[in-house]
Amino acid sequence: MDKIIVHGGTPLRGSISLSGSKNATLPILMASILTREPLIISNVPRLRDVKTAIELLSGIGVEVHWRDDHELELCAVHISSQEAPYELVKTMRASFVVLGPLLARSGRARVSTPGGCAIGARPVNLHIAGIRALGGRVQLRNGYVEAHAERLRGARIWLDNPSVGATENIMMAAVRAVGHTVIENAAREPEVQDLAHLLTAMGAQINGAGTHVIEIDGVERLHGAEHRVITDRIEAGSLMAAAAITGGDLTLEDAPVDQLDAVIAKLREAGVEVSADNGALRVRRSAPLRPIELRTLPYPGFPTDLQAQMMTVLTQAHGTSVITETIFENRFMHALELLRMGADIVMKGPTAIVRGSSHLSGAPVMATDLRASMSLILAGLVADNATDVSRVYHLDRGYERLDVKLQSIGARLERVPDRNE
Ligand code: EPZ
Repeated sequence: MDKIIVHGGTPLRGSISLSGSKNATLPILMASILTREPLIISNVPRLRDVKTAIELLSGIGVEVHWRDDHELELCAVHISSQEAPYELVKTMRASFVVLGPLLARSGRARVSTPGGCAIGARPVNLHIAGIRALGGRVQLRNGYVEAHAERLRGARIWLDNPSVGATENIMMAAVRAVGHTVIENAAREPEVQDLAHLLTAMGAQINGAGTHVIEIDGVERLHGAEHRVITDRIEAGSLMAAAAITGGDLTLEDAPVDQLDAVIAKLREAGVEVSADNGALRVRRSAPLRPIELRTLPYPGFPTDLQAQMMTVLTQAHGTSVITETIFENRFMHALELLRMGADIVMKGPTAIVRGSSHLSGAPVMATDLRASMSLILAGLVADNATDVSRVYHLDRGYERLDVKLQSIGARLERVPDRNE
């Protein structure tokens, strides 16, 4: 295993290109199960989670190969197994989204339940309720969800909360069901829309993706398609945070500007200059950071996947900021590591009070999850002395060659083997 050693104090400057979205890619790869014909998917990021998804799909009989650096061909002529094993699902919860397409294609699926997670309980009850509403017979046995259905049938499904994964799972089951499905209180995230675009290119009939009500008319068969994955808005937001905290000047090429409204608004409120020009986003800061109040919300609200990074930025604001996490119940683990570096953060239930500006000093810190790792790298970028961030395999799950990208804009950091692991 590797760790990253960060030497702080350098404002990041220059221009950088963004990778394809991890959270759009994962369900899109699972959609390959829905057809016997090939899918060609481009702009696929080279990440650990993508590797895990390929392993999962290969295990059930999908032929997957890289056509070039970021382009995958997937072909599911035969499904040889209907099982997603615990060993894979426990390392990547997004694997659970295999349930809907497997059931739709094969009439049965056996998918391990994901179990606990560092950021919250993350149950899958909404996925299961949706599959049941479509006529799937579902039971939980030996830690696995076992589902059967000769033919799924369209239904009206109300989601208790707009779960991204449940919306995707239900959408992929419903595209081949008999009749009309309505998903109410659906997730509106751009990643859900991107999946709907692919499914539509495969011949599915879907309306309303990107709104709270998605309507689907089932079709007999889906065909092959080509699709380019959208740019990663969370990688974009993370790099914006890097420009903001270091007082740098970064240009993000081909940024998904209109998916970042909430992030841009909050950074501006904090005193960061953000301007969009011809698809590029320039983020710079020359004045001191101001404190803000921030609440994570489903899209188009401020994303929970940028809360940790923003908390680190706000440790450098002059005054008291208040962050409320409303999506996951345990997503402040990074705060405990930031405290060890000298941050002043008090947590009360879903709220964190961040008093700044704090002088951060380098320390050995440990990443607990993907976005937490990024928040610690950001802290290292402004800390004095070296910050040792261990367990960076979390980072490799969702950021493509982050160390190389950050080096290219002036960050002083190195990736070295971690002898303590
Ligand atoms: C997706 O997870 C993302 N993952 C997460 O990104 C992201 O944090 C999350 O959406 C919220 O935006 C992928 O897209 C692969 P949810 P997902 O179902 O789909 C509750 C990252 O860092 N819920 O929208 O699992 C759940 O507990 C990751 O890239 C139920 O109660 O999230 C949570 O409180 C981490 N029952 C809320 O809904 C269910 O059946 C939202 O979760 C499902 C969810």
